[in-house]
Amino acid sequence: MVSFKSVFVVLAISTSTFASPATQKCSVAEKLSGPPSGWEIDSGSRIDKEKGTIKLRIGLVQENMSKFHEMAMRKLGRKAFENSTPELIPVQIATPGDEMYGAHMAQHVIDKIIAPKSESKDLVMQWLEGEGLRDVATLSPRLDSVVVEGSIKQVEKLLKAEYSAFVHSESHDSVIRTLEYSLPDILKGHVDVVQPTTVFGLKSMRSMIKDVKPYTEEEVDNIMADVDAQAVAGCTGSSITPACLANLYSFSNAANESVGLMGIAGFLRQHPIQSDLTTFMNRYAYFANKAQKFTCALLNGGTCPTSDSTNNIVEANLDAQYARAITSNIPNIYYSAGGNGPFVGGGENTNEPWLEWLNYMLALPDSSLPNTISISYGDDTLSLPNNYMVAQCNLFSQLGARGVSVLVASGDSGIGSTCSHSGQRQFDTSFPAGCPWVTTVGGTTGTTTEGAWSSGGGGFSEVFARPSYQDSTVTSWLSRDTAHTAYSTYFNSSGRAYPDVSAQAVNFLVVLGGSASGVSGTSASCPTFASVIQLINSQRVASGKKGLGFLNPWLYSSAASAMNDITTGSIRGCSNIGSGAGFVARAGWDPATGLGSPNYTKLLAVSQSTA
Ligand SMILES: *[C@@H]1O[C@H](CO)[C@@H](O)[C@H](O)[C@H]1NC(C)=O
Ligand SMILES: *[C@@H]1O[C@H](CO)[C@@H](O)[C@H](O)[C@H]1NC(C)=O
Ligand SMILES: *[C@@H]1O[C@H](CO)[C@@H](O)[C@H](O)[C@H]1NC(C)=O
Ligand SMILES: *[C@@H]1O[C@H](CO)[C@@H](O)[C@H](O)[C@H]1NC(C)=O
Repeated sequence: MVSFKSVFVVLAISTSTFASPATQKCSVAEKLSGPPSGWEIDSGSRIDKEKGTIKLRIGLVQENMSKFHEMAMRKLGRKAFENSTPELIPVQIATPGDEMYGAHMAQHVIDKIIAPKSESKDLVMQWLEGEGLRDVATLSPRLDSVVVEGSIKQVEKLLKAEYSAFVHSESHDSVIRTLEYSLPDILKGHVDVVQPTTVFGLKSMRSMIKDVKPYTEEEVDNIMADVDAQAVAGCTGSSITPACLANLYSFSNAANESVGLMGIAGFLRQHPIQSDLTTFMNRYAYFANKAQKFTCALLNGGTCPTSDSTNNIVEANLDAQYARAITSNIPNIYYSAGGNGPFVGGGENTNEPWLEWLNYMLALPDSSLPNTISISYGDDTLSLPNNYMVAQCNLFSQLGARGVSVLVASGDSGIGSTCSHSGQRQFDTSFPAGCPWVTTVGGTTGTTTEGAWSSGGGGFSEVFARPSYQDSTVTSWLSRDTAHTAYSTYFNSSGRAYPDVSAQAVNFLVVLGGSASGVSGTSASCPTFASVIQLINSQRVASGKKGLGFLNPWLYSSAASAMNDITTGSIRGCSNIGSGAGFVARAGWDPATGLGSPNYTKLLAVSQSTA
């Protein structure tokens, strides 16, 4: 076998396949029937295809990804790599009770395990050589892709593609993309994602905010007057404050830690405003004189200005104000990822938000990684190619294995709004919510009785299969829940099910441009749950342990009993399928509210006894 394989490789490289590009046999690698909704050809724009350049990232197929995933999920012990080089032996990771629990993996160890075959790189380089692009091609720092910058004309010839300017009908942003591209057949099994090509990226991405409504002074006064006078202290009507969450989720007596790092991911040129945070902390946080600041990390052209009168501050202020209030004195960092600069006729046009952000995070040394990260952004699964989502999800798995607990908002459209996939009626899903390597947070509402928020996102991924950690939980739900059977043709119950957990989603009191508003969406749920996890992570760090890292195997096992099970309400949507379509919250896990909302006191106790 081995000798056959190497003979094949030698043949592949030594034949004249790449010497004469015209004779290469190519096949279409990706083809969209049209631009994603909201996008259209920008007929008014002239692209200079000689001067305009594209920085193309050619992803190399990584080896042993599934073996790495088993390690990261903690199914394999160190034995699996006994015969490998010694530095591969510190296999670590995350099954509670496992001797390796909490021992995370270094990036260079991960990179070594999943490194692409060297022939994959060689074949790509030969291909580029034949097209006169070898000299401008470089291997990415983590060896997982070849990056090449060429004129649009060169890239079109390379990929047998036709790039056009597209404009978004609402935002009026422009991008240069192609609806189709091809690759030489000989690169099959060696190359996966090639971008920017068909991913419209940032403009299909959105923050998970459903609603913003300004409060009058009187409404704010009423909310604050009730902070100390409620059954669940600090909760009034459906308005949520830090005091309300502290009581509801039992973290008002959390230890005052100042170690660890809480991270917030920000995209779409959005950023928090420090002066709004100061106002929020002074007026509405349930304690006084605690930390009032965040630091900003800028990447890919992101910014953190001191003022901004646009609604680019809503998501970021919500995230920063609640993370800051809940995590108390623990340092907070906001990652401001730019990368959606307008591009017509030339210049940089990479703009792949997830890829850029994940590569930035994975390049950080262990000492700079946050323990927890909250991501309140997502794309409709339908707007992204499957191979792109698989590649990004693989990067999320590495972040988890590095020891970061990654939490993602589940979405604000319940089971969906479009609900039509190539003419077939089907529930919608969201990415990265559907990636099995993140912890997805759904929405709840109501404080005396906490129930499912009907717009909270939930469902079953049509891209990723059900991971082992939720297998028995979801199987049990499928047999107990009778309500879903009328709709079972509209989703694939073998897919990764989400949300994993949930938290309050409606009417969070937030300061925007100096005045108070009520903000709703799983964009509120996500930083809330993530911040409770950070309280636990910081206590672990303070006692000399590692953070919890990838949470799901723990959440679905020992931590499940530490959640507030949500058993009322349902999530809805897909009116084209029927008014009863949706998922119902019931005892145990369900696709409306996952395992439930957090009880910090119980979660901390479980983390101390099992992790
Ligand atoms: C990765 O996979 C290849 C091919 O299956 C195998 O030869 C190699 O030993 C694997 N590497 C590790 C570290 O398991
Ligand atoms: C919490 O700890 C910080 C320093 O680590 C200190 O400045 C602050 O006063 C403490 N707060 C309380 C309420 O103990
Ligand atoms: C359902 O999901 C599973 C797991 O992802 C997949 O193997 C199967 O092909 C899917 N079925 C359909 C009909 O799409
Ligand atoms: C959270 O857990 C603590 C400790 O077990 C318990 O006293 C409290 O009632 C729980 N909170 C809720 C809302 O169930």
